[in-house]
Amino acid sequence: PRIVVLISGNGSNLQAIIDAINSKTIEGKIVLVVSNKNSAYGLTRATQVGIPTLTFPLKQYKDLGKTRIEYDLELAKKIKEYNPNLIILAGWMHILSDDFLRCFDDIIINLHPALPNQFDGTNSIARAYEAFKKGSITKTGVMVHKVISAVDKGEPLLVEEVPILETDSLDDLETRIHNVEHRLIVQVTKKFLDGLNR
Ligand code: GRF
Repeated sequence: PRIVVLISGNGSNLQAIIDAINSKTIEGKIVLVVSNKNSAYGLTRATQVGIPTLTFPLKQYKDLGKTRIEYDLELAKKIKEYNPNLIILAGWMHILSDDFLRCFDDIIINLHPALPNQFDGTNSIARAYEAFKKGSITKTGVMVHKVISAVDKGEPLLVEEVPILETDSLDDLETRIHNVEHRLIVQVTKKFLDGLNR
């Protein structure tokens, strides 16, 4: 099966998928890595293992007088050329429009470092940490969900709670969450691809 991964930054979750394919945990091939940021270290991770990359920043496209929707449609067109069976948003920080989603048949999953309906959107880990310090939550979590147009609202495919400790710094919590993310994204990818073969 053919996997396309969309990133915007470090790409540690991309790396987890690369490693899982190398160790034969996942039977599949990453055929393209897309980043909307020129500086994303994840691009280096992909290049290091010979995965084709596409850097497609929204700002540069808009500087050409194009709209956000035209960006989404162009992005979809470029990805479609790779015939993916699965599109993974892993640290992808651009809200995809319905126009984009309609180009694919329910094959897009997103990793989000919070529990369903807890801290949708960005800076979820820091927001959970602040809420914990205020005493309004005792734990947070990670989920992988189907992507729909409502941000972080798609059907959860896998959810795991992550404890927050009194002694935690924000860094401690982020590290604990990223380790869970790396495990969950591999688990869901494997499950999704196994489901294709049935
Ligand atoms: C992760 O917490 C991811 O869930 C969030 O961005 C962070 C960085 O992910 N959206 P990565 O290291 O770039 O995979």
